[in-house]
Amino acid sequence: MTDAPNLVEVDGMKVHFPIRRGVVLDKTVGYVYAVDGVDLAVRQGETYGLVGESGCGKSTLGRAMLKLTEPTAGRVVFDGVDLSKLKGEPLRTMRRRMQMVFQDPMSSLDPRQSVESLLVEGMRAHGLDKDKASTAARLRELLSAVGLPSTSLRRYPHEFSGGQRQRIGIARALSVQPDLIVADEPVSALDVSVQAQVINLLEDLQAEFGLTYLVIAHDLAVVRHISDRVGVMYLGGLVEEASSDQLYATPLHPYTKALMSAVPVPDPEVEDLRERILLAGDLPSPANPPSGCRFHTRCPWRQETLCDTERPELREVLPGHRVACHYAEDIRDGRIRAHEVKAQLVQDDWDVSPDSSLAGPASVTETLG
Ligand SMILES: Nc1ncnc2c1ncn2[C@@H]1O[C@H](COP(=O)(O)OP(=O)(O)O)[C@@H](O)[C@H]1O
Ligand code: SF4
Ligand SMILES: [Mg+2]
Repeated sequence: MTDAPNLVEVDGMKVHFPIRRGVVLDKTVGYVYAVDGVDLAVRQGETYGLVGESGCGKSTLGRAMLKLTEPTAGRVVFDGVDLSKLKGEPLRTMRRRMQMVFQDPMSSLDPRQSVESLLVEGMRAHGLDKDKASTAARLRELLSAVGLPSTSLRRYPHEFSGGQRQRIGIARALSVQPDLIVADEPVSALDVSVQAQVINLLEDLQAEFGLTYLVIAHDLAVVRHISDRVGVMYLGGLVEEASSDQLYATPLHPYTKALMSAVPVPDPEVEDLRERILLAGDLPSPANPPSGCRFHTRCPWRQETLCDTERPELREVLPGHRVACHYAEDIRDGRIRAHEVKAQLVQDDWDVSPDSSLAGPASVTETLG
């Protein structure tokens, strides 16, 4: 997987939404910096998990990647072709290869259309609905691929459960034989028991059809098992990226460390002993992002004055592991201690087990211990 070529590359991506005021003059009074300088690549056949708090720009990045939202700056290269250079028919043709699965199938599926009509629509738009017999065979194939009975065709979205509706949404994306699927919070609206089924379905379909995925989630647990690599976003920027295994075992960015420390551990003994990093303050507004490192207003390791003035680049700290923090190595090796005032640490027992991968650096314990 690591040697696979990139299917899609995003370079210097920015999406700024104007904030307008005034009915008559309609003046632009500012911008929401929803995506503010992101470089990432998704390799052929891999699953890239994109995580971060609500509002950090994940959906906007996903939409810009598919050219559903026009970027303010930057470009998307899909299978070697710069999408900004494509218009009209060539863009439409290319679009077939990139599909989206949405969080809430109830709002993304037209309630007045039968499942058959929903599935045929995209095929027709791309000239894949050639004759009745082959379309009928294709529809049966799609339903069976997503685990729905063939009697589903004449039914309407409201007649299905949430999980089944998401299967319809996935079948719809599959109907045009895409290469890339951007799944935006595909299981967030589903019951926990159903979430695993849909995640397993996505994995099965990937193996069967050789799909490439960008899976967006606000929940680290959702992307952990399905992703080959994971990117963590904070306020419009990518702050860390690594293989899924490495990111969960050795998170290096303070924000990722805090996110990880909030994920419960199934083993109750480890759960009782582990350390949690609670962040100070609220998520700043993307209309008024902090200067320098965007995380400096909440970072327990913030250093004067570099963190406040200079935005850290996403740089490779370990092979294949990129981190946007000026002090990633110093924090990792314990040369910099977390500030007491900025971090509220909740610990049930100071005797933190040193082999817990979720325990922070020793210096954190010393600061408060
Ligand atoms: N069409 C839009 N117009 C104006 N602001 C938007 C628009 N879409 C998203 N935003 C804003 O951009 C920021 C990022 O949103 P979004 O990409 O949906 O984040 P996420 O998916 O991570 O929750 C939010 O502050 C959101 O309110
Ligand atoms: S650059 Fe500074 S403020 Fe930003 S994450 Fe690193 S230590 Fe924290
Ligand atoms: Mg979103």
